[in-house]
This record gives sequence, C-alpha cells and structure tokens, in this order.
Amino acid sequence: MKKVKVCSPGTSANLGPGYDIFGLALSNPYDIVEVEKTENGITISVEGEKAEEIPTNVDENTAGVVAKKMIQDFKIESGIHIHIIKGIKPGSGLGSSSASCAGIAFALNELFELKLSKLELVKYSSLGEAVAAGAPHADNVAPAIFGGFTLTTSYEPLEVLHIPVDLEVLVALPNIQVSTKTAREILPKEIPIKDMVNNVGKSAGMVYALYNNDLDLFGRYMSKDCVVEPCRANLIDGYSEVKEKVKDMVYGITISGSGPAIITIPKKEHVIDIENIFKEVWNCPVYYTKVGPGCYVEEIE
Ligand code: HSE
Repeated sequence: MKKVKVCSPGTSANLGPGYDIFGLALSNPYDIVEVEKTENGITISVEGEKAEEIPTNVDENTAGVVAKKMIQDFKIESGIHIHIIKGIKPGSGLGSSSASCAGIAFALNELFELKLSKLELVKYSSLGEAVAAGAPHADNVAPAIFGGFTLTTSYEPLEVLHIPVDLEVLVALPNIQVSTKTAREILPKEIPIKDMVNNVGKSAGMVYALYNNDLDLFGRYMSKDCVVEPCRANLIDGYSEVKEKVKDMVYGITISGSGPAIITIPKKEHVIDIENIFKEVWNCPVYYTKVGPGCYVEEIE
C-alpha cells in the first residue's frame, strides 16, 4: 500500500447538557485526508475551506502533531506526505480540527497496518485537539472515529461509549468568529449543585430518549443546558433571537461544540421555514444532513 484517502466527518459536540461528553458524527460537511508514503520526514499541504490560515508546519498542524507521535511510537521508518482537503471550516464548532486529527490517525492505521482499536485511534486523535483547543477533549474525535452518537464518559483512562443512531439534523454556520480557547475560558470554574443536577438529569434523559426513539424528549433536553450555553450564547449574535423564533419548529436547538454553528433537530415539515430564519438572521451556510459514519477509506493505492 502506497497511499490512502480517508473521509473524516464533521462532528457536533456537547448537544447541550453533555459538555465534553456527547458527540454526533455528521454526514456533511467532512474533510478528506490523503496520506502517501515518501522517502523520509513529514510534509503537509492543505486546500479547501480557509486553507491559507492552516499552518503546514508539523508541530503547529493538528494532524501533523498526531502523525509525528504515531510515527515515533510505532517506529515507522517511511516518510509521509499528508494532503488535507478541508470541507469543514476551521473555527466553526463542527469539529474541523478533530476531523483532520481523526482522519490522519485513521489513515496511518490503514497505511501501515497498525491494527489499532477505535479507542486507541481516539487517544491519538485527541493529542491534536490539545493544540487546537488548549485541552485534549475527545468529544469531537470520538464520533469522528466511531460515527453515530458517542459518550466520552471518562478521560483518565479514556472511555468512549458508542450508540448508532438514525437522526436528521439541520445545522447553521453563522459567519461569526468564535475561538474554542476563549469559549472554554469564559466557562465557570465551579457550578451550583442545582445546575449539576439539571445537566446530569437532562443528559441521562437524552440517552433514554435515544433508546426509546423519543425525538421530542431528546430535543427538549438538548435545549436545556443551564451551564455552558448561557455563557456562550452572547458570543453568537442573533442566537437567542433564532432560538425563540424556531422553538415550535424544532425538537431541539443548541450551540454546536463551542460555536458559532448551531445544531437543531428539525420537525420535518418546518425544515424550509427554519432555513429561511437562519438565512434571514445570519445569511449563512446551512447543512440539512444526517448523523453518519466515522472515518472510512475512500481509496487505496
Ligand atoms: N466540548 C468542546 C467545547 C467542543 O465545547 O469546548 C469544542 O468543539
């Protein structure tokens, strides 16, 4: 095998009360990560969404950091060239850096037949997240590897639970700048116990709702984070207005990851009305998509 081309999905983390725990893999948007064996060293090229802003230096590129560590750990002697085609806009709240990190870990596992488990791939992928977000949270890389709905239930040791789900989502991507680092820094260091009770209750209820195919309950609880969303809503101009306007047209609505993307579980008959509201307030790209698979191989040479 000389070259592998991998499709790595965008993801939506948190889903309201499941901060740093819940994640969903999306069928669209996605990144393509191609890795080719070379004589020596690691080189990187990037094209696509905001490619000019993505560093191609190995130690600053999130995928480069993951590749370097895997090459060291597995004593890989070959060099590699990584080519990333960004379909996911960086800084969107749709797991852009995670898609590149998961894509490279998955691609190297295939190319060098490392036989790593999905959990091990999540561990390697999350090293790149530390570069992007200042903390190695795994709630985007977990669904990018596993697909479906994931729960990162423990960080030390890392534990991920996976639930396959069949769900349609409608996502808006306002043209607003939100840095994940800032969006994490503004969160409270301590929270009142009643807020903890709310968020634990709502997130437990969301898992119950998934197993019972209860979209109404899932969406209602997803919209009721009382810890993270209230702090971040102010970073996204127009969010409170949109949330109020679409409240009867969706099962649920919340900020996707650290934003500015907004994820909704739409009521089918209102998809167009919701899209119109998104366009009226933000005039922005909208994805009507499904929860999808994790990374997969598109081509091998
Ligand atoms: N759980 C992370 C956060 C996801 O909300 O900061 C970042 O996309």
